[in-house]
Amino acid sequence: MTDTNPIEALASLETEALAAIARASEASALESVRITFLGRSEGRISAILRGLGGLSPEERPLVGQHANRVKNAVSEALEARAAELAGGVAAGSLDLTLPGRRPWQGGLHPITQAVDEIWHIFRELGFSRSRGPEADTEWYNFVALNTPLDHPAADEQDTLYLVDSVLLRSHTSPVQMRTMEKYPPPIRVLAPGWVYRRDTYDATHTPAFMQIEGLVIDEGVSFVDFKATLEEFARRYWGPDTTVRFRPSFFPFTEPSAEVDVKRVITRPDGRQEETDWLEIMGAGMVDPNVIANAGLDPERYTGWAFGMGPGRIAMLKHGVDDLRTFFENDVRFLGQFAS
Ligand code: PHE
Repeated sequence: MTDTNPIEALASLETEALAAIARASEASALESVRITFLGRSEGRISAILRGLGGLSPEERPLVGQHANRVKNAVSEALEARAAELAGGVAAGSLDLTLPGRRPWQGGLHPITQAVDEIWHIFRELGFSRSRGPEADTEWYNFVALNTPLDHPAADEQDTLYLVDSVLLRSHTSPVQMRTMEKYPPPIRVLAPGWVYRRDTYDATHTPAFMQIEGLVIDEGVSFVDFKATLEEFARRYWGPDTTVRFRPSFFPFTEPSAEVDVKRVITRPDGRQEETDWLEIMGAGMVDPNVIANAGLDPERYTGWAFGMGPGRIAMLKHGVDDLRTFFENDVRFLGQFAS
Protein backbone atom coordinates (compact mmCIF):
# COMPACT_ATOMS: atom_id res chain seq x y z
CA MET A 1 0.00 0.00 0.00
CA THR A 2 2.09 2.99 1.19
CA ASP A 3 5.38 3.30 2.94
CA THR A 4 3.72 3.93 6.35
CA ASN A 5 2.46 1.11 8.51
CA PRO A 6 -1.35 0.88 7.84
CA ILE A 7 -2.12 0.16 11.49
CA GLU A 8 -0.36 3.33 12.62
CA ALA A 9 -2.06 5.24 9.83
CA LEU A 10 -5.43 3.98 11.06
CA ALA A 11 -4.67 5.02 14.64
CA SER A 12 -3.82 8.58 13.64
CA LEU A 13 -6.84 8.78 11.31
CA GLU A 14 -9.03 7.79 14.25
CA THR A 15 -7.55 10.50 16.48
CA GLU A 16 -7.91 13.06 13.74
CA ALA A 17 -11.49 12.07 12.91
CA LEU A 18 -12.66 12.12 16.54
CA ALA A 19 -11.13 15.56 17.06
CA ALA A 20 -12.85 16.90 13.93
CA ILE A 21 -16.19 15.44 15.07
CA ALA A 22 -15.87 17.13 18.45
CA ARG A 23 -15.09 20.43 16.77
CA ALA A 24 -18.04 20.30 14.35
CA SER A 25 -20.54 22.83 15.66
CA GLU A 26 -23.34 22.26 13.19
CA ALA A 27 -24.83 19.51 11.06
CA SER A 28 -23.20 20.61 7.79
CA ALA A 29 -19.70 20.65 9.33
CA LEU A 30 -20.37 17.19 10.73
CA GLU A 31 -21.41 15.94 7.29
CA SER A 32 -18.18 17.11 5.72
CA VAL A 33 -16.19 15.32 8.45
CA ARG A 34 -18.14 12.18 7.56
CA ILE A 35 -17.31 12.54 3.88
CA THR A 36 -13.62 13.20 4.60
CA PHE A 37 -13.19 10.02 6.60
CA LEU A 38 -15.96 7.62 5.62
CA GLY A 39 -17.11 8.91 2.22
CA ARG A 40 -17.51 6.00 -0.20
CA SER A 41 -15.13 7.22 -2.90
CA GLU A 42 -12.82 9.75 -1.22
CA GLY A 43 -13.05 8.77 2.46
CA ARG A 44 -9.65 8.25 4.04
CA ILE A 45 -10.71 5.30 6.15
CA SER A 46 -12.67 3.83 3.24
CA ALA A 47 -9.50 4.04 1.16
CA ILE A 48 -7.64 1.83 3.60
CA LEU A 49 -10.45 -0.74 3.54
CA ARG A 50 -10.42 -0.66 -0.23
CA GLY A 51 -6.65 -1.16 -0.27
CA LEU A 52 -6.84 -4.36 1.76
CA GLY A 53 -6.65 -6.41 -1.44
CA GLY A 54 -3.13 -5.20 -2.08
CA LEU A 55 -1.81 -6.44 1.23
CA SER A 56 -0.05 -9.71 1.92
CA PRO A 57 -2.30 -12.57 3.11
CA GLU A 58 -0.70 -12.30 6.60
CA GLU A 59 -1.28 -8.56 6.91
CA ARG A 60 -4.77 -8.51 5.43
CA PRO A 61 -6.92 -9.86 8.32
CA LEU A 62 -5.10 -7.79 10.93
CA VAL A 63 -5.40 -4.50 9.05
CA GLY A 64 -8.98 -5.35 8.05
CA GLN A 65 -9.93 -5.88 11.67
CA HIS A 66 -8.37 -2.58 12.74
CA ALA A 67 -9.92 -0.68 9.86
CA ASN A 68 -13.40 -1.97 10.71
CA ARG A 69 -13.01 -1.11 14.36
CA VAL A 70 -11.93 2.46 13.51
CA LYS A 71 -14.75 2.81 11.01
CA ASN A 72 -17.31 1.76 13.64
CA ALA A 73 -15.83 4.03 16.29
CA VAL A 74 -15.95 7.01 13.95
CA SER A 75 -19.53 6.22 12.83
CA GLU A 76 -20.68 6.02 16.44
CA ALA A 77 -18.97 9.30 17.30
CA LEU A 78 -20.68 10.93 14.29
CA GLU A 79 -24.09 9.72 15.40
CA ALA A 80 -23.61 10.81 18.99
CA ARG A 81 -22.46 14.27 17.93
CA ALA A 82 -25.39 14.59 15.51
CA ALA A 83 -27.82 13.80 18.33
CA GLU A 84 -26.10 16.31 20.57
CA LEU A 85 -26.36 19.05 17.95
CA ALA A 86 -30.02 18.27 17.24
CA GLY A 87 -30.90 18.49 20.96
CA GLY A 88 -29.06 21.70 21.66
CA VAL A 89 -30.10 25.19 20.71
CA ALA A 90 -27.71 26.72 18.22
CA ALA A 91 -26.37 30.08 19.28
CA GLY A 92 -28.59 32.94 18.16
CA SER A 93 -31.76 30.86 17.75
CA LEU A 94 -32.89 31.19 21.39
CA ASP A 95 -35.94 33.45 21.66
CA LEU A 96 -35.84 35.01 25.10
CA THR A 97 -39.13 36.82 24.55
CA LEU A 98 -41.20 33.61 24.60
CA PRO A 99 -43.27 33.17 27.78
CA GLY A 100 -41.70 30.73 30.22
CA ARG A 101 -43.15 27.33 30.93
CA ARG A 102 -44.74 27.18 34.35
CA PRO A 103 -43.21 24.54 36.58
CA TRP A 104 -45.74 21.81 37.39
CA GLN A 105 -47.37 22.46 40.73
CA GLY A 106 -49.22 20.06 42.96
CA GLY A 107 -52.17 20.99 45.16
CA LEU A 108 -54.28 19.55 47.94
CA HIS A 109 -57.23 17.39 46.92
CA PRO A 110 -60.56 19.26 47.37
CA ILE A 111 -61.72 16.74 49.99
CA THR A 112 -58.45 17.15 51.91
CA GLN A 113 -59.01 20.90 51.75
CA ALA A 114 -62.52 20.50 53.19
CA VAL A 115 -61.14 18.30 56.02
CA ASP A 116 -58.50 20.95 56.75
CA GLU A 117 -61.02 23.82 56.79
CA ILE A 118 -63.35 21.89 59.11
CA TRP A 119 -60.43 20.92 61.32
CA HIS A 120 -59.26 24.56 61.62
CA ILE A 121 -62.65 25.59 63.00
CA PHE A 122 -62.84 22.76 65.53
CA ARG A 123 -59.26 23.43 66.58
CA GLU A 124 -60.29 26.98 67.43
CA LEU A 125 -63.12 25.47 69.49
CA GLY A 126 -60.60 23.47 71.55
CA PHE A 127 -60.57 20.11 69.76
CA SER A 128 -57.49 17.98 69.05
CA ARG A 129 -56.95 15.20 66.53
CA SER A 130 -57.40 11.50 67.09
CA ARG A 131 -57.20 8.46 64.84
CA GLY A 132 -57.88 4.77 64.68
CA PRO A 133 -57.18 1.87 62.31
CA GLU A 134 -59.04 1.50 59.00
CA ALA A 135 -59.15 -2.26 59.49
CA ASP A 136 -60.89 -2.78 62.81
CA THR A 137 -62.77 -5.49 64.67
CA GLU A 138 -66.49 -6.17 64.94
CA TRP A 139 -66.17 -5.18 68.60
CA TYR A 140 -65.02 -1.64 67.86
CA ASN A 141 -67.08 -1.12 64.72
CA PHE A 142 -70.37 -2.51 66.06
CA VAL A 143 -70.61 -4.28 69.41
CA ALA A 144 -68.90 -1.69 71.61
CA LEU A 145 -71.03 0.94 69.88
CA ASN A 146 -74.18 -0.68 71.24
CA THR A 147 -74.83 -2.36 67.90
CA PRO A 148 -75.20 -6.16 68.26
CA LEU A 149 -74.17 -8.06 65.14
CA ASP A 150 -77.75 -9.10 64.45
CA HIS A 151 -78.90 -5.50 64.75
CA PRO A 152 -80.27 -4.09 61.49
CA ALA A 153 -77.67 -1.29 61.62
CA ALA A 154 -74.84 -3.83 61.34
CA ASP A 155 -76.57 -5.35 58.36
CA GLU A 156 -77.58 -2.12 56.71
CA GLN A 157 -74.01 -0.93 56.44
CA ASP A 158 -73.12 -4.04 54.49
CA THR A 159 -69.60 -4.29 55.68
CA LEU A 160 -66.47 -5.32 53.83
CA TYR A 161 -64.99 -8.15 55.90
CA LEU A 162 -61.29 -9.04 55.71
CA VAL A 163 -60.83 -12.12 57.91
CA ASP A 164 -63.07 -13.55 60.64
CA SER A 165 -64.17 -10.62 62.77
CA VAL A 166 -61.84 -8.07 61.18
CA LEU A 167 -63.37 -5.65 58.72
CA LEU A 168 -62.81 -2.37 56.93
CA ARG A 169 -64.46 0.09 59.30
CA SER A 170 -67.86 1.23 58.01
CA HIS A 171 -67.68 4.53 59.92
CA THR A 172 -65.21 6.50 62.03
CA SER A 173 -67.25 5.90 65.21
CA PRO A 174 -64.89 3.12 66.41
CA VAL A 175 -62.41 5.94 67.05
CA GLN A 176 -64.78 7.13 69.82
CA MET A 177 -64.13 3.95 71.75
CA ARG A 178 -60.40 3.86 71.05
CA THR A 179 -60.02 7.48 72.16
CA MET A 180 -61.97 6.98 75.39
CA GLU A 181 -59.86 3.91 76.20
CA LYS A 182 -56.62 5.82 75.67
CA TYR A 183 -57.22 9.29 77.08
CA PRO A 184 -59.00 10.35 80.25
CA PRO A 185 -61.76 12.99 80.01
CA PRO A 186 -62.14 15.83 79.25
CA ILE A 187 -62.08 14.60 75.64
CA ARG A 188 -62.63 16.87 72.65
CA VAL A 189 -61.40 15.26 69.45
CA LEU A 190 -61.87 15.25 65.72
CA ALA A 191 -61.01 12.05 63.84
CA PRO A 192 -61.03 12.30 60.05
CA GLY A 193 -60.40 9.14 58.06
CA TRP A 194 -61.39 6.72 55.34
CA VAL A 195 -64.35 4.40 55.81
CA TYR A 196 -65.64 1.58 53.62
CA ARG A 197 -69.04 0.27 52.66
CA ARG A 198 -70.33 -2.12 50.08
CA ASP A 199 -71.96 0.78 48.23
CA THR A 200 -72.54 0.99 44.50
CA TYR A 201 -70.25 3.48 42.82
CA ASP A 202 -72.55 6.27 41.65
CA ALA A 203 -72.86 10.07 41.62
CA THR A 204 -73.34 10.27 45.40
CA HIS A 205 -71.68 7.07 46.71
CA THR A 206 -68.20 5.61 46.60
CA PRO A 207 -67.28 2.39 48.43
CA ALA A 208 -64.44 4.24 50.15
CA PHE A 209 -65.11 7.72 51.49
CA MET A 210 -63.94 10.22 54.06
CA GLN A 211 -65.70 10.77 57.33
CA ILE A 212 -64.94 13.08 60.21
CA GLU A 213 -65.85 11.85 63.66
CA GLY A 214 -66.24 14.33 66.48
CA LEU A 215 -66.39 13.37 70.15
CA VAL A 216 -66.78 15.33 73.37
CA ILE A 217 -66.78 13.58 76.78
CA ASP A 218 -66.65 15.38 80.11
CA GLU A 219 -68.56 15.89 83.33
CA GLY A 220 -71.74 17.88 82.89
CA VAL A 221 -71.82 17.97 79.08
CA SER A 222 -75.41 18.56 77.96
CA PHE A 223 -77.54 18.72 74.83
CA VAL A 224 -77.08 22.51 74.97
CA ASP A 225 -73.30 22.12 74.46
CA PHE A 226 -73.99 19.75 71.60
CA LYS A 227 -76.37 22.10 69.77
CA ALA A 228 -74.43 25.28 70.47
CA THR A 229 -71.08 23.87 69.32
CA LEU A 230 -72.47 22.46 66.08
CA GLU A 231 -74.35 25.68 65.34
CA GLU A 232 -71.19 27.66 65.96
CA PHE A 233 -69.27 25.38 63.62
CA ALA A 234 -71.89 25.74 60.87
CA ARG A 235 -71.89 29.53 61.12
CA ARG A 236 -68.12 29.71 61.02
CA TYR A 237 -67.98 27.37 58.02
CA TRP A 238 -70.91 28.60 55.91
CA GLY A 239 -71.36 32.13 57.20
CA PRO A 240 -73.18 33.91 60.05
CA ASP A 241 -76.60 33.70 58.34
CA THR A 242 -76.59 29.90 58.25
CA THR A 243 -79.46 28.21 60.10
CA VAL A 244 -79.12 24.78 61.66
CA ARG A 245 -81.84 22.18 62.20
CA PHE A 246 -81.67 19.08 64.41
CA ARG A 247 -83.98 16.37 63.08
CA PRO A 248 -84.76 13.44 65.41
CA SER A 249 -83.05 10.30 64.18
CA PHE A 250 -81.68 7.00 65.42
CA PHE A 251 -78.18 5.61 65.88
CA PRO A 252 -77.57 2.70 68.27
CA PHE A 253 -74.64 4.54 69.88
CA THR A 254 -76.32 7.89 70.57
CA GLU A 255 -79.42 8.71 72.62
CA PRO A 256 -81.08 10.98 71.66
CA SER A 257 -79.86 11.05 68.07
CA ALA A 258 -80.21 13.73 65.45
CA GLU A 259 -79.55 14.38 61.84
CA VAL A 260 -78.13 17.87 61.45
CA ASP A 261 -79.14 20.01 58.47
CA VAL A 262 -77.99 23.45 57.42
CA LYS A 263 -79.65 26.12 55.32
CA ARG A 264 -77.23 28.59 53.86
CA VAL A 265 -77.70 32.09 52.52
CA ILE A 266 -75.84 32.46 49.26
CA THR A 267 -75.17 35.54 47.18
CA ARG A 268 -76.10 35.18 43.49
CA PRO A 269 -73.79 36.62 40.81
CA ASP A 270 -76.27 39.52 40.42
CA GLY A 271 -75.91 40.31 44.14
CA ARG A 272 -79.28 38.93 45.24
CA GLN A 273 -79.26 36.90 48.45
CA GLU A 274 -80.94 33.53 48.38
CA GLU A 275 -81.61 30.76 50.88
CA THR A 276 -80.60 27.25 49.85
CA ASP A 277 -82.50 24.03 50.55
CA TRP A 278 -81.85 22.17 53.79
CA LEU A 279 -78.72 20.10 53.43
CA GLU A 280 -77.94 17.16 55.66
CA ILE A 281 -74.38 17.48 56.95
CA MET A 282 -74.04 14.87 59.69
CA GLY A 283 -75.44 12.22 61.96
CA ALA A 284 -74.99 13.06 65.63
CA GLY A 285 -76.30 12.70 69.15
CA MET A 286 -75.58 12.36 72.85
CA VAL A 287 -73.23 9.42 73.42
CA ASP A 288 -75.22 6.44 74.70
CA PRO A 289 -74.37 5.58 78.35
CA ASN A 290 -73.70 1.96 77.27
CA VAL A 291 -70.94 3.18 74.96
CA ILE A 292 -69.33 5.22 77.73
CA ALA A 293 -69.51 2.15 80.00
CA ASN A 294 -68.03 -0.10 77.28
CA ALA A 295 -65.02 2.21 77.19
CA GLY A 296 -64.54 1.69 80.93
CA LEU A 297 -65.81 5.11 82.00
CA ASP A 298 -68.56 5.81 84.50
CA PRO A 299 -71.68 6.91 82.61
CA GLU A 300 -73.11 8.39 85.81
CA ARG A 301 -70.21 10.78 85.93
CA TYR A 302 -69.49 11.43 82.27
CA THR A 303 -71.72 12.49 79.42
CA GLY A 304 -70.91 13.64 75.92
CA TRP A 305 -71.90 14.02 72.32
CA ALA A 306 -70.60 12.85 68.98
CA PHE A 307 -71.09 13.36 65.29
CA GLY A 308 -70.01 11.87 61.99
CA MET A 309 -69.92 14.04 58.89
CA GLY A 310 -68.97 13.54 55.26
CA PRO A 311 -66.44 16.09 53.96
CA GLY A 312 -66.86 14.69 50.43
CA ARG A 313 -70.44 15.95 50.30
CA ILE A 314 -69.40 19.21 51.86
CA ALA A 315 -66.71 19.67 49.19
CA MET A 316 -69.24 18.82 46.42
CA LEU A 317 -71.57 21.47 47.71
CA LYS A 318 -68.87 24.06 48.15
CA HIS A 319 -67.57 23.72 44.61
CA GLY A 320 -70.88 22.99 42.89
CA VAL A 321 -69.71 19.52 41.86
CA ASP A 322 -72.62 17.20 41.11
CA ASP A 323 -70.83 13.87 40.75
CA LEU A 324 -68.75 12.56 43.66
CA ARG A 325 -66.86 10.24 41.33
CA THR A 326 -65.04 13.12 39.68
CA PHE A 327 -63.14 13.57 42.96
CA PHE A 328 -61.70 10.06 42.63
CA GLU A 329 -60.95 9.80 38.92
CA ASN A 330 -57.70 11.70 39.45
CA ASP A 331 -57.97 13.76 36.30
CA VAL A 332 -55.56 16.64 36.96
CA ARG A 333 -57.52 18.91 34.59
CA PHE A 334 -60.45 18.60 37.00
CA LEU A 335 -58.55 18.50 40.30
CA GLY A 336 -56.17 21.29 39.24
CA GLN A 337 -59.07 23.76 39.37
CA PHE A 338 -59.17 23.44 43.16
CA ALA A 339 -55.43 23.79 43.74
CA SER A 340 -54.67 26.94 45.63
N1 PHE B 1 -71.41 6.75 62.46
C1 PHE B 1 -72.61 7.32 61.94
C2 PHE B 1 -72.68 7.02 60.43
O1 PHE B 1 -71.69 6.67 59.85
C3 PHE B 1 -72.65 8.80 62.14
C4 PHE B 1 -72.69 9.20 63.59
C5 PHE B 1 -71.50 9.46 64.27
C6 PHE B 1 -73.90 9.33 64.27
C7 PHE B 1 -71.53 9.83 65.60
C8 PHE B 1 -73.93 9.70 65.58
C9 PHE B 1 -72.76 9.96 66.25
O2 PHE B 1 -73.72 7.15 59.82
